[in-house]
Amino acid sequence: MHAIWNKYPEIQSELYVVREIMEENARCKDKVIEASIKDLIQSGGKMIRPGFAVIASKFGDYKPERTRAMATVVEMFHMATLVHDDVIDDSKLRRGKETIQSKYGKEYAVYIGDYLFCICFKILASTASLQSIQIDSKAMSKICLGEVEQLNSRFQKEVSVKNYLKRISGKTAELFALSLYIGAAESDCDKKLSRLFWNIGHNIGMAFQIIDDLLDYTGTDKQLGKEAGHDLRDGIYTLPLIYALESKPADLIALLEKEELSEEDIQKIIELTHEYGGIDKARALAKKYTNKAYSFMKRLPDNKYKIMLQEITGELLDRVY
Ligand code: IPE
Ligand code: IPE
Ligand code: MG
Ligand code: MG
Repeated sequence: MHAIWNKYPEIQSELYVVREIMEENARCKDKVIEASIKDLIQSGGKMIRPGFAVIASKFGDYKPERTRAMATVVEMFHMATLVHDDVIDDSKLRRGKETIQSKYGKEYAVYIGDYLFCICFKILASTASLQSIQIDSKAMSKICLGEVEQLNSRFQKEVSVKNYLKRISGKTAELFALSLYIGAAESDCDKKLSRLFWNIGHNIGMAFQIIDDLLDYTGTDKQLGKEAGHDLRDGIYTLPLIYALESKPADLIALLEKEELSEEDIQKIIELTHEYGGIDKARALAKKYTNKAYSFMKRLPDNKYKIMLQEITGELLDRVY
């Protein structure tokens, strides 16, 4: 289990149960599917989304089984998107291990992602309210559209901050919002409180993806458990670069226009992105979203879970993993 939860044993023990439920659901006649899903479960994801679902559920009439089911759904759904994302990005490393697409091939990885989606629907159909299922499906389609937008914008130097924000709102913030919302709604929190959680999740999610994108420039493979600098190599231009390109610097543009980028070119692009203020500006925007999340959080009823959520939000902003 990721160290982020050490400080919160009550949530941590719930997450262990969620992990068991995920493993039970991973059981499958096809042993490659089963083994690869179990590997992914055990390889140490941060489990932020299920943790959020559990925390939000504590603000209502907490029902352990229902909450655990919802937490399982958001994590397995997240895993499905990661497996497919790694196919699209041709990534070799995920959670410190070889990716499913690299180990078993892209064909298999597509099916494993699909299989994970099916598990989510199975659990939802047997546990969640119809309204939650509807909200869930809507969130899933938004994530898909966010990923498609990213695919369509590859290697485009003109992509705007606005476009980027719309993209990450779909591909990442939506699931953060859903995780907090569904935890609250399925614990019978009223509409107002559940919506407040949605807004909190959205803003934490926006900051989360900005930091993830920034770490692609500043982090190492070891810290991240995935390949640093991979977005650039793939032509995925994220906020630091988008900001750095705002002043239309000729040297940076010339590098991006090269047919093929050497390792040296990548390092130079990273350097220039720093130099033109892209990293600092991106970090400042992540901070702004975090502050927005804090201001929504102020409206939550006072209890220890509110403090937890505030602390974890701060931890995620400052993370180097
Ligand atoms: C990775 O999410 C994908 C993004 C939205 C940036 P996480 O950083 O939560 O991945 P795991 O679950 O810890 O591996
Ligand atoms: C998150 O985006 C992927 C999804 C939300 C599906 P990234 O492409 O930044 O995720 P990593 O960096 O590969 O984990
Ligand atoms: Mg990726
Ligand atoms: Mg990333």
